[in-house]
Amino acid sequence: MNLKESLKKIKEESESFSLNTKEDLDKFRLKFLVKKSEMMELFNIIKDLAAEERKEAGRILNETRNLIEEKFKQHQEVVLSKREENANKEDLSLPPLHNQKGSRHAISIIRNRIIEIFSRIGFIIEEGPEIEDDWHNFSALNFAENHPARDMQDTFFINMEDQLALRTHTSSVQIRTMQTQKPPIRILAPGRVYRNEAVSARANCFFHQIEGLYIDEKVSFADLKQTLYFFVKEMYGDEIEVRFRPSYFPFTEPSAEMDISCTICKGKGCNVCKYSGWLEILGCGMVHPNVLKNCGIDPEKYSGFAFGMGLERQSMLLNGVNDLRTFFDNDTRFLKQF
Ligand code: DAH
Repeated sequence: MNLKESLKKIKEESESFSLNTKEDLDKFRLKFLVKKSEMMELFNIIKDLAAEERKEAGRILNETRNLIEEKFKQHQEVVLSKREENANKEDLSLPPLHNQKGSRHAISIIRNRIIEIFSRIGFIIEEGPEIEDDWHNFSALNFAENHPARDMQDTFFINMEDQLALRTHTSSVQIRTMQTQKPPIRILAPGRVYRNEAVSARANCFFHQIEGLYIDEKVSFADLKQTLYFFVKEMYGDEIEVRFRPSYFPFTEPSAEMDISCTICKGKGCNVCKYSGWLEILGCGMVHPNVLKNCGIDPEKYSGFAFGMGLERQSMLLNGVNDLRTFFDNDTRFLKQF
C-alpha cells in the first residue's frame, strides 16, 4: 500500500470514529495521535522517499494529521463540558443516600433518664475522679481497716504505696461532696466504676453506677422510701411493685436493698427473676453517723440517705437485654436499637 492509500484509509477511519465519551477520546488518541500510532508511523516513511517526493508526502501527511487533531480537539471540548455539566446535576431518579446518623449509647440514655427523674425533685449532678484514694473509696465510708467488707469489691490498685485505685463505686463522690458542701445536699453522681471480676454475661471489669445522696435536718427513712418509690414509678411504670430487704453496707445504717416486681413475668416467676418474682435494683440506707463525722458534718444535727445502682442493670431490666457485655462490644446492630 502506498502512502496515499494508507492516508486515505486512516482519514476515512478517523472520520467515521464516533467521539462521544472520554473513553472514545482515549481510544482515538491512541489510534491516531500518539507517537506509535498508525498515523504517526507514516512520518517515518518520509525519510526513505526520494527528495522530490518528500515535499508532497510531507504536505499530505501534515494535512491529514491536522484534520485528525482538529476533530479530536473539537470533540474533547464538547465531551469535557458535558461531563462537568453532569457532575453538577443531581440525578433525581437515584435512590436517596442512606443517612447514617449516630445515636446515643444505651447507657447514656438510661443515665439521662434517671437524672431527669431525680432533677424534678431537686437533685443536682456531682462528679468525682475515677482514680481514687483509699480514704475516699473505703475509709471515709466506714470500711474498717481490715474489715472483710473491703473484699466485697475486688479492687484494681494502681499504686500500693499511695493506696491509689480505680474507684470501685460512686459512693466516693458522697464523701467528696460532703467535704466541700454544706447541707442541704441533694446530689446524683453518675460515673464509671471498676472491679476485678471475671467477665461474664452478668459482670464486667468496669460498669456504670449512679449514686444518690440527700443530707439535711430531720431526713428520715420515710423520705428515703418515698423518694425511691417516686423514682421507680417514673422509671418502670405505675403498676410496678416495690419491696425493701434489710442488707448491709458499711456506710449506711440501717441498710436495705430494693427489689421491684419482675418486669418480664410481672411477678409470676421466670428465669430472669430466678422464679422469685422479684428483681434487685439498688442498694440504699441512712448515711452512717461515722460517715457524716468523717466529712465534718454533725450527725446530731443532720441526717440523710444514700442509694446506689448499676446503670447496665437498669437498662437490662428495662429493655430485656440478657448479656451485659453487649453494652461494651460497640456492635452498632445492638446500639442502634435504643
Ligand atoms: N456502693 C454500693 C455498691 O457499689 C452501692 C450502694 C449501696 C450505694 C448502698 C449506696 C448505698 O449509696 O446507700 O455496691
